[in-house]
Amino acid sequence: MSGAELVVQDLVAGYDAAPPVLSGVSLEVTAGEVLAVLGRNGAGKTTLLRCIAGLLKPRSGRVIVNGVDVAGWPAHRVAKHSMALVPEGRRVIPGMTVIDNLKLGAYLLPRSNEINRALDDVFAVFPALVAWSRRRAGTLSGGQQQLLSIGRALMTSPSVLLLDEPLTGLDPLFQTEVIAALQNIKSGDRSILLVEQNARRSLNVADRGLVLAEGAIVLTGSASALRDDPRVQDGYLGTSRIPSPRPDAA
Ligand SMILES: Nc1ncnc2c1ncn2[C@@H]1O[C@H](COP(=O)(O)OP(=O)(O)O)[C@@H](O)[C@H]1O
Ligand SMILES: [Mg+2]
Repeated sequence: MSGAELVVQDLVAGYDAAPPVLSGVSLEVTAGEVLAVLGRNGAGKTTLLRCIAGLLKPRSGRVIVNGVDVAGWPAHRVAKHSMALVPEGRRVIPGMTVIDNLKLGAYLLPRSNEINRALDDVFAVFPALVAWSRRRAGTLSGGQQQLLSIGRALMTSPSVLLLDEPLTGLDPLFQTEVIAALQNIKSGDRSILLVEQNARRSLNVADRGLVLAEGAIVLTGSASALRDDPRVQDGYLGTSRIPSPRPDAA
């Protein structure tokens, strides 16, 4: 197995003194793989990503990236260990140009020639960003901002990429574009964890998936098996509980 992979073991996490939001989550993303983490609002998806990325310290459990347990490390140190997060709601800096937003993503790269090479790499994947590069990010549409947000995360060539609901709030055309972009950046030495409420779309690019409900994994399977599973219909995920939970090792 190649080095670039993410293993989460028995992750327990929550906020302040409240009961845990995640009650022992385990999963694996191998190199070259896209794992979809599905679940309705409040299931704990963002909390999971925050723990993996070092933005929230887990109460217990392990987050192993490229063979090293990074659980509890601060976010900047996790980022240096070749991980990047595309946060919920895009969060580009609206008053800054597209190119300056991209350069922000390269804060870990010390030299300007490395930054320029990273820009070239990102422009090669997202040619549309070239045409927008001098525009202020705030003038882009939601879908364009999402592509920028993904491009910014790619500036450090992360081996583990986390995306938090990249499709939410986008019209269907841009959802297709974002999925195509993910297809593009899927590669043999990168592990992608794709958190989504849109099961149908995300299972089109994912290799495997799991369903998170109330902080626990209630369903796992190949993308094709989950696509055909009546319990994983979009509407169902959005409105109901998953019956007869049968967790198995992810
Ligand atoms: N900063 C926070 N402080 C306290 N509780 C939080 C915080 N963020 C999320 N929660 C709670 O954790 C649970 C899971 O939230 P979240 O991880 O955001 O779910 P999802 O991303 O699947 O919608 C929810 O009950 C939510 O209210
Ligand atoms: Mg969320």
